[in-house]
Amino acid sequence: MSTIILGIESSCDDTSAAVIKDGVLLSNVVSSQAVHEAYGGVVPELASRAHQQNIVPVVHEALKCAEVNKDDLSAVAFTRGPGLMGSLLVGVSFAKGLARSLNIPMIDVNHLKAHVLAHFIKEKDEDTNQPKFPFLCLLVSGGNSQIILVKDYNEMEVLGQTIDDAAGEAIDKCSKVMGLGYPGGPIIDRLARQGNPKAYTFNKPHIPRLDYSFSGLKTSFLYSLRDWIKEDPEFIEHHKEDLAASLEATVVDILMDKLRKAAKQYQIKQVAVAGGVSANTGLRNAFHEHAKKYGWEIFIPKFNYTTDNAAMIAITGYFKYQNNDFCSIDLPAYSRVVI
Ligand code: KG4
Repeated sequence: MSTIILGIESSCDDTSAAVIKDGVLLSNVVSSQAVHEAYGGVVPELASRAHQQNIVPVVHEALKCAEVNKDDLSAVAFTRGPGLMGSLLVGVSFAKGLARSLNIPMIDVNHLKAHVLAHFIKEKDEDTNQPKFPFLCLLVSGGNSQIILVKDYNEMEVLGQTIDDAAGEAIDKCSKVMGLGYPGGPIIDRLARQGNPKAYTFNKPHIPRLDYSFSGLKTSFLYSLRDWIKEDPEFIEHHKEDLAASLEATVVDILMDKLRKAAKQYQIKQVAVAGGVSANTGLRNAFHEHAKKYGWEIFIPKFNYTTDNAAMIAITGYFKYQNNDFCSIDLPAYSRVVI
């Protein structure tokens, strides 16, 4: 008998549902919330209200695209955390209610682990090259910057992480200071392609071990910009491409420096990247350069699976299903959690 998992993701500002049958992705529907653009960041209350409106049509669409009837589902997997509590509660409550009404198991999924396991999403007739255990994964998103040693589907160890801002958060904040739109990551990426990455230098952190820090870079960017604007009030407009390219290059250097150290320390050459910032062109290029220079075998996710999506929740749920790793209905959502 087939195993069909419905995955539900609602940790931040994307409502998403996906269906996976015997490990193969049949559908992945994502509804992003444009309402936050006007505020330059996600407004938690607006996010949870939008999830409430979106969740039923998104799940309906995912089942329809997959040509799966809800009575055929084997289990419902959902993001339990970390994320915004109001947003999580919508997905968690919906998933539990649906699983209970269908009398099938429910599976709680750690959103961070799911980002890592996005590398195991397999589409129909697709011949994917998947990482083999153990491998390293650089998880970089709006809320996290971590180097993870992935020993198995459900066994991961965080080797290093940011002690303050995440990489995506720092990029978004610098972009906001420049008066660019939200989220800043894709805008900085686009501008950076036309700029000189060596035009400006910004502070890099000196943090021990394999941890990261991005708050110093953000401050250095802000103070430098203030000084330059004093000289030329139109400085940003005149130099936005070079600013974006230099900012991106600094973030990528910081990320790759520690990742290289981790690869050397743990003698691992299989290196993956995951999370929203893994969509970044500069970071992807740096991965390719490292593959050539250090003989790494690299794993870069498809663009659809870099940002929040339910396909990664469904595949994580699928692996947990195989271990009979289910949860009970009284399990609460959690806003903060480690891997
Ligand atoms: O994983 P994600 O969708 O959400 C969570 O934080 O969980 O990541 C969002 C982050 C944002 O900071 C966004 O600006 C960044 O990913 N991002 C990018 C790019 N696309 C998205 N950063 C740099 N370059 C990009 N192309």
